[in-house]
Amino acid sequence: MSNNTLLEARLVSRTDKAVAVRTHALSKEFSGRLVLHSLDFRVDPGELVAVVGKSGCGKSTLLRLICGLEKPSSGWVEVDGERLNGLSRHARLMFQDAALLPWKSVKANVALAAPRKSLRDRVAEDALQHVGLRDRAQEWPSILSGGQRQRVALARALASDANLLLFDEPLGALDALTRLEMQALIERLWLERRFSAILVTHDVEEAAALADRILLMEGGRVTFQTTVSLERPRDRASAEFTALKEAILERILGRHA
Ligand SMILES: Nc1ncnc2c1ncn2[C@@H]1O[C@H](COP(=O)(O)OP(=O)(O)O)[C@@H](O)[C@H]1O
Ligand SMILES: [Mg+2]
Repeated sequence: MSNNTLLEARLVSRTDKAVAVRTHALSKEFSGRLVLHSLDFRVDPGELVAVVGKSGCGKSTLLRLICGLEKPSSGWVEVDGERLNGLSRHARLMFQDAALLPWKSVKANVALAAPRKSLRDRVAEDALQHVGLRDRAQEWPSILSGGQRQRVALARALASDANLLLFDEPLGALDALTRLEMQALIERLWLERRFSAILVTHDVEEAAALADRILLMEGGRVTFQTTVSLERPRDRASAEFTALKEAILERILGRHA
């Protein structure tokens, strides 16, 4: 097998590497105030779970605990069957702000994430190809649009070898059309690479379009969850899709029976 073919195989066939996440009675308090209440949460390998809920209900705290940026007050997180102690080597967190280094080219920003130095250039180019930005590799991040910067952040996640992607409202600042494009891109990359993913979003339609399962968090607890079995790509105009969206919104707004 040539080097290139090997690299392709490494970049594209990831199914075997997707990891499971489990939280066990996971609680977090800040200054004596409990913001996560004994959460038992799971993501199966290769599953895309969306978490929705009002601002302040603990979504970002959950993601920070799962990638090891915060320590539990009690309970624990398991990733790939191992109890997490410090930063997770599997996880990559993506926020609204793509957080690119302004003094490095697009390609260098992506290359920095690649674990093996010798392959960095190729891995970065390949990851940029996957997000449709190969021809922007030499540019500065500052001249890219918000959507393009988020694509670079996605490329960085792909280059990093992470097999658990944690999305914290990454598309929140984008205009509606760019957001649709990015949702399609995330779905395509996920179908190709089958990483495990948690998508925190305030956009119920986004959750319904992308997730295998949707969880609703309220006050640090999961109060509702539903499996989404609609075929992909999802037909947003279908009656089933609309019904699902409405059911979740009703829950969030507390109007369910
Ligand atoms: N580092 C922190 N120190 C103190 N309180 C925090 C900290 N991080 C989050 N909180 C509080 O925890 C609660 C949940 O926050 P967060 O997880 O950011 O919610 P969400 O992402 O759902 O909007 C909020 O009340 C927030 O103010
Ligand atoms: Mg948040």
